[in-house]
Amino acid sequence: RPAVTGKVPDDLLRVSDLDPGTLGQVLDLAGAMKREPLGWERSLHGAALGCIFEKPSTRTRVSLATAAHRLGMSAIVLNRDEMQLGHGETVADTTRVLSSYLDALTVRTFEHSTVEQMADAATIPVINALSNTHHPCQSLADLLALREHFGTLAGMTAAFIGDGTSNTCNSFLAACAASGMHLNIATPPGYETDEDILGEARELMAQTGGSVSLMTEPADAVRAAQAVYAEVRVPMDKQQEEAERTRRLAAYRVDDALLDRAPREAMALHCLPAHRGQEITSEVLDGPRSLVWRQAANRLPTAQAVLHTLITTARQRAA
Ligand code: CP
Repeated sequence: RPAVTGKVPDDLLRVSDLDPGTLGQVLDLAGAMKREPLGWERSLHGAALGCIFEKPSTRTRVSLATAAHRLGMSAIVLNRDEMQLGHGETVADTTRVLSSYLDALTVRTFEHSTVEQMADAATIPVINALSNTHHPCQSLADLLALREHFGTLAGMTAAFIGDGTSNTCNSFLAACAASGMHLNIATPPGYETDEDILGEARELMAQTGGSVSLMTEPADAVRAAQAVYAEVRVPMDKQQEEAERTRRLAAYRVDDALLDRAPREAMALHCLPAHRGQEITSEVLDGPRSLVWRQAANRLPTAQAVLHTLITTARQRAA
């Protein structure tokens, strides 16, 4: 059975909390958990996971709860409006109390600073289940899907099509950096990835052999890409920009014509939920060049590996 022997962070707030070696080991563990889902059934028997959601979720919510169950834990899903957190209690006070009941806490929220506040106040691992700037749990599933399909990650080229400011893009960029991948990000002007996030990725890529290039034309981005990531045009936190985003991102769509400009082996990625006919077509999503359903399925074993790694490490540190 694979063991995670690298440096394990107290919390998983962003992909870069995992160094490249540890990230690879977590993916190895996820792969083993996918092959033997109940092989770790007793490992966290009696432990409890709290899952706070301030935004809707299907995949993250169900994969985390099922992952906890497969490790012998119970999961408690907490919607913000049903908690005192939604009625004036502070993030720090809430987290402090929950730390005394639970073994780990996941949170889906708006501002990334909320996740950081929780991590500061918690005495248990905190896992980012999506903030406006990072979505690390998604990226682990993306990497596992790519590794399963292509066999290796280092040296491969991926393209990200659309909003380069999104949490999915930020985390996928960090995942590519840790894996020694080359990433082409095609965005309209004004939707480029944040300079600090690019800088952090470039620093890591100097060590791992990866690279990142910004461009405006999707056709240029996919020319050498084995993986083509389609991004939602109007995310949950940007509904007020719907008209402008729909117009400015209209040409940023992953369809058969775009994939035909990529190498023959190219596969499409999407974090879901998809807006069929907008950022990705049904022909691609449901066709032979889609890795999307495997990405979604891999949310479960990667969540299982993250929970197991962080909670067992926290217990060892506390002993
Ligand atoms: N990709 C993703 O995070 O899906 P949910 O919003 O359904 O959790």
